Amino acid sequence: MKYIKKKLTIEKASIQNIAARFGTPTYCYSYNQLKENINNFKKNFKSFSPLICFAIKSNTNINLIREIKKFGLGADVVSVGELMMALKAGIDPKKIVFSGVGKTSDEISYAIDKKILLINTESKSEINEIERIAKSKKKIVNIGIRLNPNTDAKTLKQISTGKKENKFGVDEKTFFNLVTYSKSSKNINLKCLSVHIGSQILSHKPYEKMLKVIDRIIQKSNYNFEFIDLGGGMGISYEKNNKKLNYQKYNIAIKKFLKNYNSKIIFEPGRSIIGNTGSLVSKVIYIKESDKKDFIILDAAMNDLMRPALYGANHKTLPALKTNQTSKKTYEFVGPICESTDKFTTLKKFQKLNEKDLVVMCDVGAYGMSLSSNYNVRTKPAEILIKGSNINIIKKRQKVEDLI
Ligand code: LLP
Repeated sequence: MKYIKKKLTIEKASIQNIAARFGTPTYCYSYNQLKENINNFKKNFKSFSPLICFAIKSNTNINLIREIKKFGLGADVVSVGELMMALKAGIDPKKIVFSGVGKTSDEISYAIDKKILLINTESKSEINEIERIAKSKKKIVNIGIRLNPNTDAKTLKQISTGKKENKFGVDEKTFFNLVTYSKSSKNINLKCLSVHIGSQILSHKPYEKMLKVIDRIIQKSNYNFEFIDLGGGMGISYEKNNKKLNYQKYNIAIKKFLKNYNSKIIFEPGRSIIGNTGSLVSKVIYIKESDKKDFIILDAAMNDLMRPALYGANHKTLPALKTNQTSKKTYEFVGPICESTDKFTTLKKFQKLNEKDLVVMCDVGAYGMSLSSNYNVRTKPAEILIKGSNINIIKKRQKVEDLI
């Protein structure tokens, strides 16, 4: 995304044209950025060619998943809905892993019928349930066991998952017990050790620690895992000064780890694939002046983009048309919802805005639309995909009638 003759532009489409054609708020995705992200991801780890399972939860637009599938990626799903979505998008079941702490019997049964690569289990009870269902179907089911490596991912506490106080995975002792148990089971085939320590991770160090823990535990369990699923979590730069994850160092750590094993590595990236491909275009409805700051009231709200309200996340915010005037007052960008957390960001010295101007929030491709809701009976935004000068609507804006 860049300014061309003062107009903010995604590939060859200006934000102004997009807004005129599709209305606001609208999620826009750049195909070129998606392609670049996937190719870079593959390149970073090409020496051991991992199976890359896109974390569907980060973006559930089926047309985007179809594009991602064309690059050969599989899927990481966490519900039967996501599983159906991945299959419908044409993803090979042999490239699908099913994660999550609370899979229901129906979900397990469906996953078994679809012959997916792995069900990554997170408790003894879940393994027993899979066993029971597999037995009734006279099947042998491939599973993974998710280890909680008690590793601090050094990310936001709301999206940290690898510490022992988190609900995810099983501790070391339980892990060994479950390995022993699985070995004796007739209906399950233990193939994978999985981990996922958190999201938006910007340092390779937690990953290094996690690999050390896995290494020690595999040695101790003396079991040959066909797959090691390292989860996702690779962070992206939301702000200029954000440091970047050093993929090279992460790659080196994995290569070192793999010297002792011949397992296939699985990744479950979401944000690093789709995060920076998406932008949310919104229009200024009103500008409300107050003593210390002006409220820029947008037509997008926390139901469209939850991350700021949920995690205090900040998304770079840009005017669609550049002028040379700077506002003297601080701007607080808010939505129309009746909650004080319905606020996106507060910025000083932003370009002077007028009512009806267009504003763009950047890097919202991951956990933007997928976390959106109909709170306040607000319709969900449209989604469009930009491929050069081609603009395609990939999800229609909801209509109020759909909700009533
Ligand atoms: N694998 C598992 C088991 C996960 O739980 C997650 C994300 C991923 C993979 C993908 O992680 P990623 O590569 O996208 O970091 N809504 C939050 C993020 C929640 C992440 C949940 N799990 C946000 O907007 O920051």
